[in-house]
Amino acid sequence: MKQANKADVLLGLQWGDEGKGKIVDVLTPGYQLIARFQGGPNAGHTLEFENRKYVLHTIPSGIFHSGTKNLIGSGVVIDPYIFSQELDHLDIGQEQLRESLLISARAHLITPSHRLCDAANEASRGKQKIGSTLKGIGPAYTDKIARSGLRLGDSLCAGFETQYQELREAHLRLVKGLGYSKNDFQIEKRSFDEYEKLWFEGLKRIQGLQLVESEVYINQALDQGVRVLAEGAQGTLLDIDFGSYPFVTSSNTIAAGACTGLGLAPSRIGEVYGIFKAYCTRVGSGPFPTELFDAHGDQLRKTGNEFGSTTGRPRRCGWLDLPALKYSVMLNGVTKLIMTKVDVLSELPQFKVCVGYEYDGQQVEFLPSSFEPEKLRPILQDFKGWHCDLATFSSIGELPSALKDYLKLIEDFVRVPIEIVSTGPDRVQTLFRK
Ligand code: GDP
Ligand code: IMO
Ligand code: MG
Repeated sequence: MKQANKADVLLGLQWGDEGKGKIVDVLTPGYQLIARFQGGPNAGHTLEFENRKYVLHTIPSGIFHSGTKNLIGSGVVIDPYIFSQELDHLDIGQEQLRESLLISARAHLITPSHRLCDAANEASRGKQKIGSTLKGIGPAYTDKIARSGLRLGDSLCAGFETQYQELREAHLRLVKGLGYSKNDFQIEKRSFDEYEKLWFEGLKRIQGLQLVESEVYINQALDQGVRVLAEGAQGTLLDIDFGSYPFVTSSNTIAAGACTGLGLAPSRIGEVYGIFKAYCTRVGSGPFPTELFDAHGDQLRKTGNEFGSTTGRPRRCGWLDLPALKYSVMLNGVTKLIMTKVDVLSELPQFKVCVGYEYDGQQVEFLPSSFEPEKLRPILQDFKGWHCDLATFSSIGELPSALKDYLKLIEDFVRVPIEIVSTGPDRVQTLFRK
């Protein structure tokens, strides 16, 4: 019997910003459809090629390859204001955009009042704040689950304006209880009313693109033999169910999210590419067992240019956390690993890697779901660096032996092969296993 055509998935194994955008762009020539399955404009996926640099928030990272279709799935939440700005920055003609971009009619909208709720919620948390990107992600997914959200397709139906106004009023009542009002809204120097006006203009613009029943579209595409790559946002350790709750995002970032966010049956998932940095970073609050507070952390931040692609915030930096990586590999059923930012470690004569944890004096294999951070100690192993420029190497097999030892340590620990190594931000700075 002929093997059924399946969708491959690429997703982050840490706390986001692993380099998903760069690698999806690198892999796109092997696919005909790239499909984002969750998250929204909290994501910032950076692509660099031919001396150009783009940061994508909602649009899939295959968009710069002509002939490839790019689908925004039903699991994604869209802010038409941000989306419209993103379209402006793409340098892609209207015709090509209309041709290559498809958007699920089931995708939920992030409204201006969702953003107001996000700001009010964060402020009310005080020291316990999540460190959200404040793009309205949490409130939009909250309304989706509460069955009061607005879907893109609904915006074309009669009664949408009323639904919008009712939701807006409900949000304004909600934030009033937290001491907030419309007057506290200021985004990019815009008042609530100015933002709302541009939001509706953005919505009109999206309505002029191809809105599709994405679950039918993608399954029919697979039936016809189309090669599909599903692109995740955020990372496994920010997953709403399996991340360090409540310091997580509001969607399922794991491979299962590709099923729910695109309407794919589990049996339709093929390869799962898990991407991770050679060290760790995290933006926002929450536990980070291998975090560095010393000069090493500063050096990783400086060399790795670790500042948020969406908010510009400095990223917290630390050593690679192998137990956390193993946990992510398990949750996602990763079949192939991709390691990025290896070049950032090149200037270190030696560094460390976490191989286990001690919790309250006891050795543990995985982080417990609830724990007191001060009782947790990472078990760190020293590692000798390779200390050389990686620009001259053209495949993984040719890399310096110290770096190959690092790859082997990781592969032995998580029991999945590393198939791609990224040695710089540009498309061409990518090594494959031959
Ligand atoms: P994403 O959210 O997973 O797509 O990752 P981001 O784009 O937020 O952050 C990754 C950052 O690292 C971006 O600035 C990329 O240009 C950059 N980058 C990606 N791969 C590499 C690499 O191998 N080496 C270096 N030095 N930078 C990289
Ligand atoms: P990409 O796709 C890194 C983090 C925020 C915050 C938490 C909740 O670029 O990897 P939210 O805005 O979802 O309410 O924020 O999640 N976060 C990310 N961190 N990369 C991202 O996306 C992120 N998206 C959200 O910093 O800690
Ligand atoms: Mg990012």
